[in-house]
Amino acid sequence: MKLCSIVGTRPNFIKLAPISKEIRKKYKEIIIHTGQHYDDKMSNIFFKDMDIPTPDYNLNIHELLHGKQIGMMMIGIEDILLSEQPDTVIVFGDTNSTLAGALSSVKLNIPVAHIEAGCRSYDMTMPEEQNRIIVDHISKFLYAPTSSTARILQGEDVNGDIYDYGDVAVDILNSIKCEKIPSDYILVTIHRPVNADSHIILNRILSALNEVEYDIIFPVHPRTNKVLENFKLKEKYTKIKYVDPMDYHTMISHIKSAKMIITDSGGIQKESYILRTPCITLRNTSEWIETIESGWNKLITQISKQNILDAIKTCKKPAVYIDHFGSVGVSNRIVSSIRENINGNVRKP
Ligand code: UD1
Repeated sequence: MKLCSIVGTRPNFIKLAPISKEIRKKYKEIIIHTGQHYDDKMSNIFFKDMDIPTPDYNLNIHELLHGKQIGMMMIGIEDILLSEQPDTVIVFGDTNSTLAGALSSVKLNIPVAHIEAGCRSYDMTMPEEQNRIIVDHISKFLYAPTSSTARILQGEDVNGDIYDYGDVAVDILNSIKCEKIPSDYILVTIHRPVNADSHIILNRILSALNEVEYDIIFPVHPRTNKVLENFKLKEKYTKIKYVDPMDYHTMISHIKSAKMIITDSGGIQKESYILRTPCITLRNTSEWIETIESGWNKLITQISKQNILDAIKTCKKPAVYIDHFGSVGVSNRIVSSIRENINGNVRKP
């Protein structure tokens, strides 16, 4: 069996790590990196830190509008798939690289396995929501991370087969030895276009964070950094500790030891839940409904200084924790199921 994993961004690399390890125990894998994330700290460091094999192909496509970015990725991916002829293509999450990978494969009649299928925010203005809906409806094998995401896929009557095997994040977090980070701090990440591209929203968030009693550690995404620098916001809000994007071990250790998390990332909401750190999410909706319903994650739908300060003041660990993301061994279950499926179902372009 020959599988092709297609990745391009930081959250794709993280999910690839345990899957790639599992594939390579028995089968052949080729990795295509679209180049969407290219900074050392957004890309290379993850391959090194998580022991992911160097990609066989790097398309080096970045810094473009979405249509052009996805189109150019598809052109590059198509050529590679035609020459490599994998049995199945694996895509991860909801990024432009995920969509380009899935579309290029179905056009060649190569089955697509989608890892982290069925997540929905029901906000079609989010590029990630557009991407995952399309990918879920063209994939052959859908690996839902939770029972609620599996139910969403059933409700949408998708064509592919749905597997409720748990979330690969459980395997990843289980394999990491966290360091204890001293001091009382809040860990902050912001990168969604709706927050990160607006200096007005960033001003509101930072003005609140600049006033709280805890230390604030803020690993800054390159997208957000552009606006912070253009509007001189780092000079304005000096109590905040702005740091470069962290490698995965450091990030996970910081999530685990934090007093609380403030984020707009999908992945970090889930990681803080699994690591049992309460979370405040700066978005209208969340794909991880269980984290909200259980009280571990609180949405701030109207971003204002006062709403953020109030949420920080009232944030505490709920007494009850339920294991919503499954048990260790998710990657093994996924790779075994791809193997079983393509045994009787090999389709070549
Ligand atoms: C992308 C994904 C998002 C994911 C996020 C994780 C899409 C539509 N969005 O958002 O789902 O949660 O990655 O980080 O695919 N940049 C750099 N260096 C880098 C990477 C990006 O300078 O290594 C710059 C880009 O040139 C661009 C901006 O940051 O100007 C945004 O990058 P982009 O690829 O559009 O998406 P992200 O915001 O990173």
